[in-house]
Amino acid sequence: MSVLPRHLLPDSAEVAPDGSLRIGGCDVAALAEEYGTPLFVYDEDQLRDRCREAVAAFGDGVAYATKAFLCRAMARLAHEEGMHLDVASGGELAIALAAGVPADRLVLHGNNKSDDELLRAREVGVGRIVVDSFDELDRLDRLHAADGRVPKVLLRITPGVEAHTHEFVMTGQDDSKFGFGLKVGDAARAVERCRASASVELVGLHAHIGSQVFVAGFYEQAIEALAPFVAESGLAELSIGGGIGVAYVEGEEAPSITEWGAVVRDACAAAGITARVSAEPGRAIAAAAAITVYRVGTVKEVPGIRTFVACDGGFIDNPRPALYGSGYETFLPRSVDADRTETVRLVGKHCESGDVLVAEARVPPGLRVGDLIATPVTGAYGRTMGSNYNSLGRPAVVFASGGDARLVIRRETDEDLLATDVG
Ligand code: LLP
Repeated sequence: MSVLPRHLLPDSAEVAPDGSLRIGGCDVAALAEEYGTPLFVYDEDQLRDRCREAVAAFGDGVAYATKAFLCRAMARLAHEEGMHLDVASGGELAIALAAGVPADRLVLHGNNKSDDELLRAREVGVGRIVVDSFDELDRLDRLHAADGRVPKVLLRITPGVEAHTHEFVMTGQDDSKFGFGLKVGDAARAVERCRASASVELVGLHAHIGSQVFVAGFYEQAIEALAPFVAESGLAELSIGGGIGVAYVEGEEAPSITEWGAVVRDACAAAGITARVSAEPGRAIAAAAAITVYRVGTVKEVPGIRTFVACDGGFIDNPRPALYGSGYETFLPRSVDADRTETVRLVGKHCESGDVLVAEARVPPGLRVGDLIATPVTGAYGRTMGSNYNSLGRPAVVFASGGDARLVIRRETDEDLLATDVG
């Protein structure tokens, strides 16, 4: 038997007597009919629950990493549930502010922040700027000379810990473009420089070891590596970044946010860290809360080779398989619990052979043109990493809760694609 494991579906998922899927009390096929496909369907209550879980696990200061999934509704939701927001660009900052999130609840990241980004962040008064380089400190000095503003900053430290994950999303190792290296002494030099500077108020340290980290023990290692430096610096805050993984496919297991928080707290206590400890989860908040619903347009059986099932989306709404070789499950929203006895390749509609969503997609027999097919756990790094390749619009996003669905991002149109084309 190969039935889709229910734990990969959003918490509110229910299977109706006819076998069809409901999320947030809404019939998924009806949502696809109303809003079109491809469609991201989020379980809004689950997003809220995960935010609350993060606040309970880490306390005040824990931030939602908006790069995982961002729109105004998401920014408001995370803020309403008590999280701060990590923004990693002027654009993410603009969306969070447009959502009405108070600037002092925002943490600005980036390894190459522009003058404009820093200027804007200081003007609106973001809560923390996480400084990543000596060049950034130079920039902050210049801006300070012009307007006298003194932002609160954390220094991003590279602890020299290799979390085992995809190399594209490993960030804690010494050979990293991020942060001030601990072992090479840059971290100590950066602290000294901030202490002697009138242009920043140094309040703490930050470290992010990577993303999709399945083993909470890597955080223990990072905390052990950082502890002497944290103690020496006497600073009041430590953020251990984001990165805790989520299960995408059958057989994968990841720690919950609560478990991760306990590991981090215990490790900090054991290492004698008295600073306020916080974190920045993105994926763990958003990924499992959504599914992507596609419509099948072509079923092509290549004799003796395989069957290609082409849907109306592709690697522009989910580049993770093409970028990282990430796996996803597949299921039919009309028969969620059907035994998936056939293996096909789920591909998109883009002009590249690499446009594969699920290389070995398990589906029940009888899949036909016009069917809806869905991939679970697509709530993080899908819509936000999407592109307009082949000049196709990016999908709509709905939040479903209590039997109602609301459109939070509408589907892009040809007019949107032409909006920036001024030639
Ligand atoms: N904080 C910092 C400083 C980060 O760079 C990141 C992610 C996070 C927090 C949130 O990490 P999370 O909890 O979501 O793992 N596109 C990749 C993931 C890139 C993550 C980049 N930084 C993917 O789709 O797997």
